[in-house]
Parts: sequence; C-alpha cells; structure tokens
Amino acid sequence: MTATVIDGKQIAQQTRAEAATGALALRTSTGVIAHLAAVLVGEDPASAVYVRNKRVACENAGFKSTLHRLPASTGQAELLTLVQALNADSDVHGILVQLPLPKGIDTSLILDAILPSKDVDGFHPENVGLMQQGRPRFLPCTPAGVMRMLEVSGIETAGKHAVVIGRSDIVGKPMAALLAQKGADATVTICHSRTRDIGAFCREADILVAALGIPRFVQGDWIKPGAVVIDVGINRVGDKLMGDVDYLPAAEVASAITPVPGGVGPMTIAMLLANTLQAAIKLAGSHGR
Ligand code: GUN
Repeated sequence: MTATVIDGKQIAQQTRAEAATGALALRTSTGVIAHLAAVLVGEDPASAVYVRNKRVACENAGFKSTLHRLPASTGQAELLTLVQALNADSDVHGILVQLPLPKGIDTSLILDAILPSKDVDGFHPENVGLMQQGRPRFLPCTPAGVMRMLEVSGIETAGKHAVVIGRSDIVGKPMAALLAQKGADATVTICHSRTRDIGAFCREADILVAALGIPRFVQGDWIKPGAVVIDVGINRVGDKLMGDVDYLPAAEVASAITPVPGGVGPMTIAMLLANTLQAAIKLAGSHGR
C-alpha cells in the first residue's frame, strides 16, 4: 500500500480563507478588526520563525497582528505586567505567549494570567477544563488542527484505536482527549517516554499520532497496514525539517499520512486564526458593538 498524503497546506489554506471571510464580515458589520497580540521572549530561532509565520498568516487574513518582543533577560514580573496590559486592552482579542519561555520564568504562572476569553492557544486551565468536559471555548491549535484534518479527509475515528505518542500539555494530552470525546469516539492509548515497547502499541493503532519530538522515532514496521499516521513532530536535523515518523517506510504501509513539512504545522496556524476570530466576535458582541 502507498499512503494517501494528507495535504495540510491545502486544508490550512481553506481554514485560513474561512477566517479571512469571517474577519471581513466582522469588520464590515462592527468596525472591529480581529487582533492577535504575540509575545516572544528571548532569541530562540525556531520560536522566532513560528511567531513570524503566525503574524504573516494573520496579516494575510486581514487580521491585525502586534508583536511584543522581549529580551531573554526579561523577568517574570515584567512579563506578567505585559500580559495584564494586553488583558486590559480592549483592542486586543487574542494573546499568544510563544513557548518555551526562558528558564527562570514560571510558564504556568504566565499562562494562568492570560484572560481565558483571550487565550487563543487554549492553554489556560479554565479552557483546558472546558475542553475536557466537552464544552470547549478555545481548543489548543495543534490537536484541533489534527481533528480538522481527519474530518476534512473523511477519516472515521469512531470505534478506532488511536495511539498518541507524547503527553505534553500542548499536544499529547489534549489530542487524546479530543479523540476520545463524544462525537470522535475513538478508543485512545497514550504512550510516553516510560512506556515499555512502544512499537507493540503502535502496531495496534488504527490512527497513530506521533507528538514526542524525536526525529524518525516511529519505525515503518511499527505501522499497522492501512493505518492513518499523523506526524506532529517538527525536528530540525542539519538544514532539514524532519517529523517524528520515518516517513518513507511508513508511507509504504499506511493508508494515509501527513508529511513534514506541509502536514500538521500549517494547521496549527490556521486554527490560531480561527480561534482569534472567534475571540474577536465574542468580545465585539460583549462590548455591544
Ligand atoms: N510552542 C510550540 N507550539 C506552540 C503553540 O501552539 N503555542 C505557543 N504559544 N507556543 C508554542
């Protein structure tokens, strides 16, 4: 079998176009311009690229985008003050604090300080709780993007065995929750660094989501014939981007697979726009405009 390639770029383009249409409608009817404020602390080159891509996508969709760039030496109190100022600024609809934050800053403390109604990353505990209860406000962008890809690609999840490798707050945990929730109805196994014989679990997966951040970790012979393989990894190896899955051998066995780059990555940005638009619509409504 040679897998169908799930074209994240194309699905993301569709999602971004919908966000652009929505932003224009909001602007026309209320005068409100959807606005994402991004905060980047330090000099991590990968984070700088991600934030730039997010801002370009915002601007291309007719959103306003502002960047607050702070040196790595920024203290926690200063960052907290900035978040509080963005919370209070009625012109700002979505706040994104790019992770990871430099050592010495308590990430939870910063993320907890973002107003839940502006938390377009879906990382605030209130939004995590709402998602877990099946009444989401903002879904975290990467797992929401994966769900969108599965849906658009006509991939049935109900009754399937989904194996998620990775248990991060950003991807693994919410991914598992979304796959298991009512409506998606998959049976979910979470594997992580302490799991014994991960390959054996992968071989049982109808849907395999790799989100651990180790290049080419998932071997071709771990893939069940006909499985759907979703590769969330973006690992820089030399001058190449590589996923968490050994792509070519996996694509020989899977029925569908996401490439890296051009798979899940573009979806993360597209869902951020969708969340920011949703925040802008809500906040515009609440101000009676
Ligand atoms: N770092 C890696 N992924 C993400 C993300 O989705 N949002 C933020 N804020 N930081 C990240």
